[in-house]
Amino acid sequence: MNKELRKFVVPEIIVGEDSRLLIGRYLSHFSSKKPLIVTDQNIREFQWFEDILNEIEKFTNAYSIFDGVSENPKDYEAMLGAEVFLSGDCDLIVAIGGGSPMDCAKGIAIVATNGGHILDYEGVDEIKLPGPPLVCIPSTAGTSADVSQFAIICDSNELIKKAIISKKVVPDLALIDPVPLMTMDQNLVACTGMDALTHAIEAYVSNAQSNLTDIHALEAIKLINENLEKAVKEEKDLETMKKLMLASLYAGIAFSNASLGAVHGMAHSLGGLLDLPHGECNSILLEHVINLNYDSVPKRYSDISEKMGIDIKNPETIKKNLLERIRNLRENVGIRSFIEISGSKEDLFTMLVENALEDPCMITNPKDLSAAEVRNIYEGILQEKR
Ligand SMILES: [Fe+2]
Repeated sequence: MNKELRKFVVPEIIVGEDSRLLIGRYLSHFSSKKPLIVTDQNIREFQWFEDILNEIEKFTNAYSIFDGVSENPKDYEAMLGAEVFLSGDCDLIVAIGGGSPMDCAKGIAIVATNGGHILDYEGVDEIKLPGPPLVCIPSTAGTSADVSQFAIICDSNELIKKAIISKKVVPDLALIDPVPLMTMDQNLVACTGMDALTHAIEAYVSNAQSNLTDIHALEAIKLINENLEKAVKEEKDLETMKKLMLASLYAGIAFSNASLGAVHGMAHSLGGLLDLPHGECNSILLEHVINLNYDSVPKRYSDISEKMGIDIKNPETIKKNLLERIRNLRENVGIRSFIEISGSKEDLFTMLVENALEDPCMITNPKDLSAAEVRNIYEGILQEKR
């Protein structure tokens, strides 16, 4: 195959302060009469959310709301949402919130149009028919589900996060607005920012990278390196959040088209089995995976290091300094280096390794990781509860 040939997909994007308020105009463009709003209960109290509803109500009062989405959205939530969509005779989906409602909204769109069970569509390009129009209004600067061709849905029986990757889940429109980001708590800023950094790094070292994804990945790394600690430690300001919002957007455009790597493969396994926040899993795993991957693509990691302000004149010291910067960044934004577990460890490690090696994100990791290497990382980051 000609490696120069690359496909690059992005939705229509409106980026800037108060872009969320354009929702009414776009309902009109899509000729929507009955939109379904997919969200989670935690954000419904915020004024910026109310503002979105007001704009929708200027256009139609016949909307439904589905807010039964949890962190790490489950298969049955997408199925229930699809029932709400179909029984309400809805014709468009507006996903408002972080990665969970946006991924769930993608699941709802797939099932509402194609029927069957959401997990039937796991894998790459398994969806036949495009869903109804999907508009995303993200409230975090990290997941980038608003621009990506990924939907991650948790198999509630097996406790495995399943990746659905298809151009048919790229949203039609992303209204990317820094205002909702101002209501994130510091831990959420930290976890979602580290998730975005991981997207950018994994996209840049991915086997499927291209010139089009590289430019976005590197700019995202620079912006996060310069702004994440400030956003977490100091009083939040709109200018800093705008920069993180752009970083997340660039990282999302990069990883949606270059895919990810072992950090995400292992984080999906960990987050699925233990129901942990996605950004925290990535933050903890990132330095360990870079440590293993580094020698496979040293020039790529040198470019990343340069964007993180590391002196790259001496090739002997780059790896050590990059790992130190990643570790410091994680610590400075208040994310721990380990996860506490209790109970039978042996079964847990076996399942973690099996599920991670099955994850489609492992395919584009620059190094083929063995089961022993993956297990070794999990053993290093999981600690028995005392
Ligand atoms: Fe992620």
